[in-house]
This record gives sequence, C-alpha cells and structure tokens, in this order.
Amino acid sequence: YRLPMLSPSILNADFGHLAAVVRELDEAGADAIHLDIMDGRFVPNISFGLPIVRAVRDATTLPLDVHLMIVEPERYLEAFAQAGASALTVHVETCPHLHRTIQAIHELGLLAGVALNPATPLAAIEEILPFVDLVLIMTVDPGFGGQGLIPAVLGKLRRLRQMVDERGFRCLLSVDGGVKLSNLESVISAGADIVVTGSVLFTAEERPGEILRRLRERAT
Ligand code: DX5
Ligand code: ZN
Repeated sequence: YRLPMLSPSILNADFGHLAAVVRELDEAGADAIHLDIMDGRFVPNISFGLPIVRAVRDATTLPLDVHLMIVEPERYLEAFAQAGASALTVHVETCPHLHRTIQAIHELGLLAGVALNPATPLAAIEEILPFVDLVLIMTVDPGFGGQGLIPAVLGKLRRLRQMVDERGFRCLLSVDGGVKLSNLESVISAGADIVVTGSVLFTAEERPGEILRRLRERAT
C-alpha cells in the first residue's frame, strides 16, 4: 500500500445518498472508509451503527476502518466484524483489559487499533504498542465532525512516531480530527501514515471526490 493513506470519514456525508458517496470516494482514490460509531455515552453524540456499516460494505471493496467510540466495545466486536469491518479501533479510555480486547479483535481475523483522546498520554498505550496494527491519535475530542485540530497533539504524534521507529514496531499511525488542506502537510510531517478527513469533504460546494483528489495531491 502507499503511504500516507487517506481514510475519509462519512460522518458528515448525506446519508440519503450514502452508497453513491462511498462509490465516489472509492473512485477518487480513498484507501479506506472510516466509520465513526458513537454511542452517546463515551462521547456526547450518537452517530450510526451496524446497518450503516453493512450498507457501506455493500457499496465498496475498500477496507472499512471502524472507529468505536462506545463504552464496553468488547460486547460488539463480533457484530461489527460480521457487518463487514476490516479494522476495529477501540479507545484506550474504554478498555480496562486492553490485551484481551485486542486479542479478541485479532481472533475475529481483523486488524486491531487503539485510539487515544488528546489528553491521554502516550504512556497509556506503551505496553500495548507491540500488539496493535494501528494507533489512532485523536487531534480533537471525539464526538463531532468539524472541530478544530488541537495543534499541541502533533507533538505527541511526533514522539509516538519516534518511539515506534526506534523500537521497530510495525503499527501504522493514524490521525483523526480537524484535518484540512491547510494543515495536511504538518500532520504528515509529524508522522501520520493514515489521515482521516471528515467534514472538509462535505462542507464545500465541490464534490467530495474532487476534494479528496486535492488532498491526495497535497499528501504525496
Ligand atoms: C470525531 C471523529 C472523526 C471525525 C472527523 O469524533 O472520530 O473521525 O468525524 O471529522 P473532521 O475531519 O470533521 O474532524
Ligand atoms: Zn473517527
């Protein structure tokens, strides 16, 4: 695969035309589709659940990068696997038994990721790093699309990049929240392998596919 990968989030898409939007992002060169699952408990907002994941699964062959912003995510891993997820990312803040949760994701045959809120220190994931395929660095407090990236988190990303490279871990580093054309390069130079973009694709009068192509040009 090429790096950095672009993983568009459909959170702010027009759900009346979901399948068409997903096909458009696929044709425009998306490397994965990011799906934001919110339960109104871990985060203050409710987004969507299994039926939408299934609908996206039916619309594309791209990997589905499922971001679980839910309490007790271990209760739903199998359901999201059956709905078509390729990778499941859980929040370290929701998982007191993280090795068990990551192992359960691997046993389902999926890639396993761990996400950190902006205020959660890297120390919280140090012990799990050798076992995960993906680390999702949140650059906003999760819950809503369209928030501004917290610049200080890029320092945390840089330190994680260094830690992963020095110790030779093979996990990919993903960045999620507030990424726009204007800060894309700083996110990549801080060490992102995967960049998630949400509202930037769906606010302008331009087609999401066109904006994704522009991000792609800027990213490589
Ligand atoms: C935030 C979600 C993000 C979000 C990205 O809670 O995890 O994936 O949808 O959207 P933007 O790019 O608008 O911050
Ligand atoms: Zn997300």
